[in-house]
Amino acid sequence: KYKKYKGRSFHMQTVGNVEDQLRMVETFKVRSDDVFICTFPKSGTHWVANIVIPLITGSIGFSSEENGLTLEFHDLSAADEIEDRRAIGSHLSYPFIPAGVKGGTGKVINVLRNPKDTFVSFWKYFSTMLNTGYEGTMDGFLRFFLSDEFYMSASWFTYIKEWTDGKSNNPDIQVHTVWYEDLKENLYDEIVKISAFLGSKVDEKFLREVESSVSFTRLKAAHNTDTGTTDRWKDLCKDGRLPIYRKGVIGDWKNELTVAQSELIDTAIKERLAGYTFNLKYE
Ligand code: A3P
Repeated sequence: KYKKYKGRSFHMQTVGNVEDQLRMVETFKVRSDDVFICTFPKSGTHWVANIVIPLITGSIGFSSEENGLTLEFHDLSAADEIEDRRAIGSHLSYPFIPAGVKGGTGKVINVLRNPKDTFVSFWKYFSTMLNTGYEGTMDGFLRFFLSDEFYMSASWFTYIKEWTDGKSNNPDIQVHTVWYEDLKENLYDEIVKISAFLGSKVDEKFLREVESSVSFTRLKAAHNTDTGTTDRWKDLCKDGRLPIYRKGVIGDWKNELTVAQSELIDTAIKERLAGYTFNLKYE
C-alpha cells in the first residue's frame, strides 16, 4: 500500500501517482505572496486556515477543505490560474516542500501540537471513518504513528525534527511556527502574530472579528451546515462530512491513553529528539 519516493514511504491518496505528484510539488512555481500552511495532520490545520484566509482576502467567512488547495493532493497546474493571493496547505515534511519555498519565496506557517493530543485526535478521526481498511487496535495505530511509515513518510518526531532543522539550517526560508496550545491559550495574540508575519494591513476591529469567527463552536457549526460539501467523502464518513471538529481541547490524551501508551511517546521524544528543546504543553 506504500508508495516509495526518494527512499521514503508515502501512504496517501494522490490524483495521479505519488512520484509524479511529489515531483510536481518540488518544482511548484511559488509566488512571493503565497502562504503555505504546513502542518502535521490533526494539529489545527483547518483552524489556522480559517485564520489565514480572512487575513489575506480581507473578508470574514468560513472556508472548508472543499475549496482549499493542498500540495500533495491536488493538480497543481490549475493553481497557476488562481489570480488572488494563495493559501496552500500541506502535510509534507520539510524535505519534500517546493524548492522555491526553501529558496525563500512565499511564507510558511508551520502548525504543531503536542504529540499525545495529536495522536489521540488522529486515532479518533481515523477510527470514526468508514472503510479506512484499518482493522487494528489503538496500540497498533500508535506503533504506526511512531514509525516513519506513518502517512507522509514521517512520524510526528521526524516531522518536527525535519522542520526544525530545515528552519535552522536555511536562513532563506520564511517560517512562522504556531502551536495549537498557544492558539488555545491566547488566540487573539496568535492571530496578531500571524497577521504581522503575513504583512496583512488590517485593523484591530478586523482582527477581533477573525478571532470570534474561528471559535470552536463557530467553526464546527459552519462545517456542519456547509453547503459546499460534495459527496467526495461519502464513502468515508457517515454524514458525508469529515469529522474535523471533535473536542478541541488540550489534554484529552489523559482520557484516552493508557500509561504505557503515554510512556511510549515520552520515550520516543527522549530518544529521537535528544538535543532538541521544545516547549511542549500537555495540559
Ligand atoms: P480534536 O480531535 O482533538 O478535537 P486538523 O484541522 O489539523 O485536522 O486538526 C483537527 C483538530 O483541531 C481537532 O482536534 C479539532 O477539534 C481541532 N480544532 C479545530 N478548530 C478548533 C478550534 N477553533 N479550537 C480548538 N480546536 C480546534
